Amino acid sequence: MDISAMIRPEVRHFEPYLPGKPIEEVRRELGLKKIIKLASNENALGTSPKAARAIADSAKFSFRYPEGPGTLLKRAIAKKLGVNFEEVILGAGSDEIIEILGKTFFKPGDEIIVSAHAFIRYKMAGDLMGAKTVTVPMKDFKHDLKAMALKINSKTKAIFIANPNNPTGTYSSDSDLREFIEIYRARTGRSKTPPFAVFDEAYYEFAKKMAGDYPDTIKYFKENSNFMVLRTFSKAYGLAGLRIGYGIGKSEAVSAMDRVRPPFNVATTAQAGAIAALDDQAHIQRSVKAASEGMDYVVRELEKIGIPYLCSAGNFILIDVAPRKGKDVFKALLKKGVIVRAMDEYGFTERVRVSIGKMEENKFFIQKLKELYK
Ligand SMILES: Cc1ncc(COP(=O)(O)O)c(C=O)c1O
Repeated sequence: MDISAMIRPEVRHFEPYLPGKPIEEVRRELGLKKIIKLASNENALGTSPKAARAIADSAKFSFRYPEGPGTLLKRAIAKKLGVNFEEVILGAGSDEIIEILGKTFFKPGDEIIVSAHAFIRYKMAGDLMGAKTVTVPMKDFKHDLKAMALKINSKTKAIFIANPNNPTGTYSSDSDLREFIEIYRARTGRSKTPPFAVFDEAYYEFAKKMAGDYPDTIKYFKENSNFMVLRTFSKAYGLAGLRIGYGIGKSEAVSAMDRVRPPFNVATTAQAGAIAALDDQAHIQRSVKAASEGMDYVVRELEKIGIPYLCSAGNFILIDVAPRKGKDVFKALLKKGVIVRAMDEYGFTERVRVSIGKMEENKFFIQKLKELYK
């Protein structure tokens, strides 16, 4: 049998997505007592207690299929953002929405435009469907939105803008975005099939506080033809383990994607948790404050050690460990009980990405990093 000969050519060379190493796996491998995980940009303060209660309450209905259309949650999201109910789609993480977008719209011959060092799942969605990915170099470690917009042509199906970007943490400001929109409009004109401009705002709640001049993309979504905004409950909302995110798109696009979306893609517990988490804005404020204070502390300490870093508008930071290899620093920190992420798959072989944790975790990380730099 030759299973590899049966694999679709588009996915034959797929590398699996590399998630952060789970704590239990490290405990098994290294037998360490204290392990902290700063590898997946999760909410350092955890799940909102109100959401946790709602999840527990809903768990007794686990024998039933979820409410497929996710009506209550979509209603709550639409109300909060001031968009129409028909413009909201739910996914098992915003990740799944990227994939559904690809499965619904991308085909061989299409192009998608991404930035170099951007979140890798956009290219994977393009690859999956046989679309060509056009990669635009970054400018000062930021998306070069002008250059990306200038790449739009009749084959372009989507432009992906991670704002802020993972793993660089850099963001596009309102003025960057306005320049992009101007070129997007000039290039797409009256096209009946304008490409999707997808603004991935997985770290929106952090960026709104930590980035100056952060754009109001929902406003731009309303004013423009084929914009889409992606957000998630995995980060500030503290529900990464439940897998739930959402997209805001034009109703025709959402309706097409809804036909491709697996009918029960968002679990009952995830829907209940997300509704309660949306309602607990005090937890969001606490979480964003903790991330912002943690970031200030980590940055101050990195400067004392003399380690360069990129200013980040998310709850994570990309640090420059050159001339060391990121993988070596990852392994050395792992042995000391700190899980971070090497970034080779993003083209950064001499950097590691570190999530901002609780203050005691940030201190533990800095202490262990200092031991490496003695
Ligand atoms: C920029 C960005 N977009 C999307 C996602 C996907 O998040 P989720 O599928 O958990 O909503 C992530 C996760 O790390 C991310 O960093």
